[in-house]
Amino acid sequence: MAVRIAPSILSADFSRLAEEVEAVERAGADLIHVDVMDGHFVPNITIGPMVVKAIRPHAKKPLDVHLMVSPADPYIEAFCDAGADGVTVHPEAGPHVHRTLQHIRACGKRPGVVLNPGTPIDAIDNLLDLVDLVLIMTVNPGFGGQVFIERQLRKIEAAAERIARAGRVIDLEVDGGITPETARRAVDSGATILVAGTSVFRGGASAYPSNIAALRG
Ligand code: DX5
Ligand code: ZN
Repeated sequence: MAVRIAPSILSADFSRLAEEVEAVERAGADLIHVDVMDGHFVPNITIGPMVVKAIRPHAKKPLDVHLMVSPADPYIEAFCDAGADGVTVHPEAGPHVHRTLQHIRACGKRPGVVLNPGTPIDAIDNLLDLVDLVLIMTVNPGFGGQVFIERQLRKIEAAAERIARAGRVIDLEVDGGITPETARRAVDSGATILVAGTSVFRGGASAYPSNIAALRG
């Protein structure tokens, strides 16, 4: 199956989010990646459920909500009600990631688990019966525009092997520093969804179709 592209609206023009979502969808986006940051789990503050609710009517594609908040549990329902299609959480964000993933599933949404660069791959081993998505961070979370951490390619490969053994359909998403060059390497390592902020949103809306096409290789 061809790789899917999930533009991160972290790099969009926040004063025109609805138009930006519509523009990347016209340009070929497969999902819309929403980076939620709390200034505590990561050193940046971005958007909350109200913004997800505001953009929901403007998006035809699934909203892929990446929660970089701690604790995450008190906010799961709010993001689900706001229109998230998938909700992805970090094991470090709360004491019981398994329960958090069950909660996302109980809300009727797609649960995802995300590993920071310093988090070992084993962290997904007891979660693969629960998740629809594994996200491997190829930068430390908190900011767009950082450099892809090469070493994480091995973790993408390891995740792909574990997913193949799990015997369920689970997406393998990669987030951070994705360019046409790193996209190819991530896909060669097993990625099925690429998150990209900087490399999608550069150059204005007229460049989005070619930016997205370049990531497909
Ligand atoms: C980082 C976020 C990423 C980020 C990617 O904390 O999770 O989704 O926006 O941005 P680029 O593509 O610029 O590295
Ligand atoms: Zn993200």
